[in-house]
Amino acid sequence: MSATSSTQRKFSILKWAQHKKKRIPITVMTAYDYTSAKLVDRAEIDAILVGDSVNMVVLGHDSTMSLTMDEMLHHCRAVSRGASRPFLIGDMPFMSYNVDLRETVRNAGRFLKEGGMDAVKVEGGQRTAETIRAIVQAGIPVMGHIGLTPQTTSQLGGFRVQGRTAKKAYQLVQDALAVQEAGCFAVVVESVPAVLADYISQLLDIPTIGIGAGSSCDGQVLVFHDALGIFDDFQPKFVKHFAHIGEGITAGLSDYAAEVRQRTFPTEDHTYTMKDEAWAELLGILEKEK
Ligand code: KIV
Repeated sequence: MSATSSTQRKFSILKWAQHKKKRIPITVMTAYDYTSAKLVDRAEIDAILVGDSVNMVVLGHDSTMSLTMDEMLHHCRAVSRGASRPFLIGDMPFMSYNVDLRETVRNAGRFLKEGGMDAVKVEGGQRTAETIRAIVQAGIPVMGHIGLTPQTTSQLGGFRVQGRTAKKAYQLVQDALAVQEAGCFAVVVESVPAVLADYISQLLDIPTIGIGAGSSCDGQVLVFHDALGIFDDFQPKFVKHFAHIGEGITAGLSDYAAEVRQRTFPTEDHTYTMKDEAWAELLGILEKEK
């Protein structure tokens, strides 16, 4: 039976709590388009995050800040067409949930209504608790995101490890409790010392999904292009290349270019034919027109 068989059940919202209870690690991967979503689904990964990292690894910006709601929804729709089994989470872009609660809830709703997502993700701990509460009250599941929050790197002083002092670590514990209390079904914990992520994971009832937060979290998430060795502008310490697809793609493209230049591609295998009579008839027509 294929991995994408329709008998395989959707990873529903209920599974997050069940996995935490049974201590089954939750697998999350980002994806931004139809084909990558299909591949993630086929690999039986539990959830897909359509992360605002799309702005960097796909659209080529140097931060996530400029991404718009419409751009995000475009990618969400593509992912939802490609993946049927994983739970789908759309990342709310910077300033789509930071102005007022009515606009925030309307934007969050668009992820489900127009983007085909099952939930949204928002960054921030205590400072975002009221926002999370409003979205959850509208019936929309919310994933939190604490620690290194890429949308506020200008406040944090860049992409740096968070919670390394006792005071900062205490704030992160309070952030974790705040997003749980506000109603999040899970929380991403990014770039924090492993010992702190472990403490938070044991403290919370909801699953923690780590990225650069050690192995004790209830699950892990990585960026598709990082995990597969496609994006090489920079590489954070927490990234592992589980494949080297970028090198494979470059090699394949170089072979293509070489064969085109040598006229060894296309061969007959990749070429359409025409019946001799039809060809002769065409030549006759063209001859008469001379
Ligand atoms: O945008 C993203 O890909 C993320 C993950 C790194 C958690 O937020």
